[in-house]
Amino acid sequence: MRLRRIPIVGTPIGAEDVAAGLLSHCRKDAVTDFEKGLAAYLGRGKCLAAGSGKAAFYLLLKALSALKPQKEVVIPAYTDAGLVLAIRAAGLKPVLCDISLESFQIDPQEVKKTVNRETLAVLAVHMFGCAADVPAIKATVKRESVFLIEDCAQSFGTSINGVMAGTIADAGFYSFNRGKNLPTFSGGALVTDSESLFRGCEAGRQLLKPVQVFSEPDFLMNIAALAIVSRPSVYSVLFPVLAPFKSNSVPTGFVLNRYSKVQAAVGSSLLGKIERFSQQRHVHGMLLLDMLKRISEFVLPGLLPGSFAAFNRFPVMVKDPQKRKRIQDRLWRCGIESSLMYPRPLHRVFDLGYPEDAFPRAQYFAEHVLTLPVHPFMRSGEVRRMGEEIIAVMEERP
Ligand SMILES: Cc1ncc(COP(=O)(O)O)c(C=O)c1O
Repeated sequence: MRLRRIPIVGTPIGAEDVAAGLLSHCRKDAVTDFEKGLAAYLGRGKCLAAGSGKAAFYLLLKALSALKPQKEVVIPAYTDAGLVLAIRAAGLKPVLCDISLESFQIDPQEVKKTVNRETLAVLAVHMFGCAADVPAIKATVKRESVFLIEDCAQSFGTSINGVMAGTIADAGFYSFNRGKNLPTFSGGALVTDSESLFRGCEAGRQLLKPVQVFSEPDFLMNIAALAIVSRPSVYSVLFPVLAPFKSNSVPTGFVLNRYSKVQAAVGSSLLGKIERFSQQRHVHGMLLLDMLKRISEFVLPGLLPGSFAAFNRFPVMVKDPQKRKRIQDRLWRCGIESSLMYPRPLHRVFDLGYPEDAFPRAQYFAEHVLTLPVHPFMRSGEVRRMGEEIIAVMEERP
């Protein structure tokens, strides 16, 4: 058995973070403190935490619906399927838009073509920790008086021209689930500067299921387990047990919960280290970008000029799917987990009324992308070794 097996995602949660969670029962205002800390860190006026990123998105949509009658929400065709559930739960209609095969993000030109009189909001998803072109999309939607929301579920710590992702558009939201840059097992938060929008979100929060006192210890146990399991030395031992729980199945529902005190206290503790983690994610991703650029059969993410990518995973588009498989196998033998991410674009996950070939770029991307680990558990030498192994596969003679 390998002594170290590197999971695809991970953030070092330390004993001090878990201890902060343990002490949260002495603090009445752990959630409010976390919200204030997050708003200050991000540089936005208002922040509200919820039980998941989807719940935060749902609150934003409900609040927006109260301000405007339009019913359509534009999202990229390649992204997290749970977003469709949140849109539908808010009584709205998901409308898809193709992605760019250069940036791997929602394509601003496609947004321009898709937005119409029925559009309530556009969701610019910052995928993989790389920045979507929010300034370009903002210019389009402003003309149409459509709300722009940033989905930073995968991109906590990413910025554009020094401004944090999630704070450029009308509102933004984050996810704190297991595999994210700031993980508290589950959770999410929204941020905005708009008083009216925030008031609507606060009113909506009353509808979220409160956290029962006896659930707080459960959250702590889950966070402690996450802290242990995601360590490469433990992951190597536990992988056979964990593997059956890793699934890419279609989500069918989501619960609207509040954020717990324990999670908020752990979140506040992790926030103190997030700069360092973001920097490591960035350095690892840029190293791969530099190493892999000489492989002509790869398409690497074209980063938005002026952006800082706090990579959650590093995406590579491999033109030959068989080689993608060979890379995955080779990395696995070297003790490195990689992932294919979402296997299908959203119109092939749900019946959204589109023909099968409606979003060819999202489809092509789903069939060719491979994502690689770049998290702070990795040492620079391991990232370099991963790059070398990948290059070796690509240079093998057939
Ligand atoms: C891009 C994106 N948006 C939204 C979400 C939803 O976040 P949560 O799982 O916290 O509801 C995810 C989660 O994986 C995501 O990757």
